[in-house]
Amino acid sequence: MGTATATPTDAGYRTPVSTEIEAFDLPVEGALPSELCGDYIRNGPNPPPGVKSGHLFMGDGMLHGVRLENGRAQVYRNRWVRTRAFVEHAPFVRLNGTVDLTVGVANTNIIAHGNRLLALIESSFPTEVTRELATTGVYDFGAALKGPFSAHPHRDPRTGELLGFGMQLRAGALFFYRIDAAGTLVEAREIAVPGSTMLHDFAITENYVVFMDLPVVFDMLLGLRGKFPYRWSDKYGARLGILDRRDPNAAVRWLEIAPCYVFHVMNAVEHGDEIRLDVVRYAELWRKGNDSFNPTTLHRFTIDLAAGRVSEATLDERSVEFPRTDERLTGSAYRYGYAVAVSGSGEGSKELRKFDLRDGTTSEHRFGAGCVPGEMVFVPGAAGEDAGWMMGYVYDAARDGSDLVVLDAANIAAPPVAVVHLPVRVPLGFHGNWIPDHAG
Ligand SMILES: [Fe+2]
Repeated sequence: MGTATATPTDAGYRTPVSTEIEAFDLPVEGALPSELCGDYIRNGPNPPPGVKSGHLFMGDGMLHGVRLENGRAQVYRNRWVRTRAFVEHAPFVRLNGTVDLTVGVANTNIIAHGNRLLALIESSFPTEVTRELATTGVYDFGAALKGPFSAHPHRDPRTGELLGFGMQLRAGALFFYRIDAAGTLVEAREIAVPGSTMLHDFAITENYVVFMDLPVVFDMLLGLRGKFPYRWSDKYGARLGILDRRDPNAAVRWLEIAPCYVFHVMNAVEHGDEIRLDVVRYAELWRKGNDSFNPTTLHRFTIDLAAGRVSEATLDERSVEFPRTDERLTGSAYRYGYAVAVSGSGEGSKELRKFDLRDGTTSEHRFGAGCVPGEMVFVPGAAGEDAGWMMGYVYDAARDGSDLVVLDAANIAAPPVAVVHLPVRVPLGFHGNWIPDHAG
């Protein structure tokens, strides 16, 4: 996530690729941990040649995957997601003005759950794909979805359930979904909201779910002009919504906060009568056009459930995006978070930052000159919170190619554990995940 201004060093990083390839037995610098058997797959917008996307967020999804097995990088491949938008150019908005949830560019995330891999975009139903990145088709949990499905569902490590949500365009309805560990959608609650906002991520804890209803609102007129249909609103206000997971009939409790925007949650934790919600916060977003992004801060909302009040604190002033954690601790007390530093000046990122939230310290991995990391994901190893690796694609402008870089999560400042050289570049994208062979 960056700004509209490209610089010579990262222009290549921001340009879509025009072909699909497969490459085998990739060269590796260092030593890939032999425990890593599975696929790292990352999604991102990549309009095909000749197609000019109206916004970074609207390009057709392309998956980039690297298969690791027994210390070898066996294959890299990239594939467009064969959505109805990509194959048929099917319209998301029908002539009668209704939306077709089977149409979407599936460009935001990819997750494994219930023995399925799902490419996600928050406007639409999921698209099922295979580990080889072939598209199976639209997946709506056996017609159980009541509306779109977010690109940021979260698995509860205590129960194995996948919790998700979806914000209906225009109608002002929000749906909460609970999918059991086997992949069956077992609960769908409809939640009334005053408008349709860009609700990108949410937070889960052992007993609660927290929604962020923030003032980046749906604007049909922008959509009709082929633009990304969201903008800042000074009127909408901002609220956190707390849903009690234990009581299916309980109303969501809404608490006002100062206007801001949040794409991504780092984690949330219950602490007595409080929920501590750690996020990457924008003071505002898309007041003038929606092509650029302001700097962020790492921010904590403390929700006092007894008093019905929210207090706020900045945890770190330096701009970051793509927060990730050890997802064995989603919704639980945690110490470490990771995020990619972003300058806000139009240049690509150069650093991965690790936050020690207990001690209030940080450490960094500095990638080389001309090297731009995307999101880096935590891959668990042995027991222990930062026992594992950070993994993600890093663009190297010097050779106009990309690497899959593996860092030791316990010591990210150290040189990489392994660097897999890909024969092509992986352009700017959004979210990926490590999908071990036993997952899903
Ligand atoms: Fe996201």
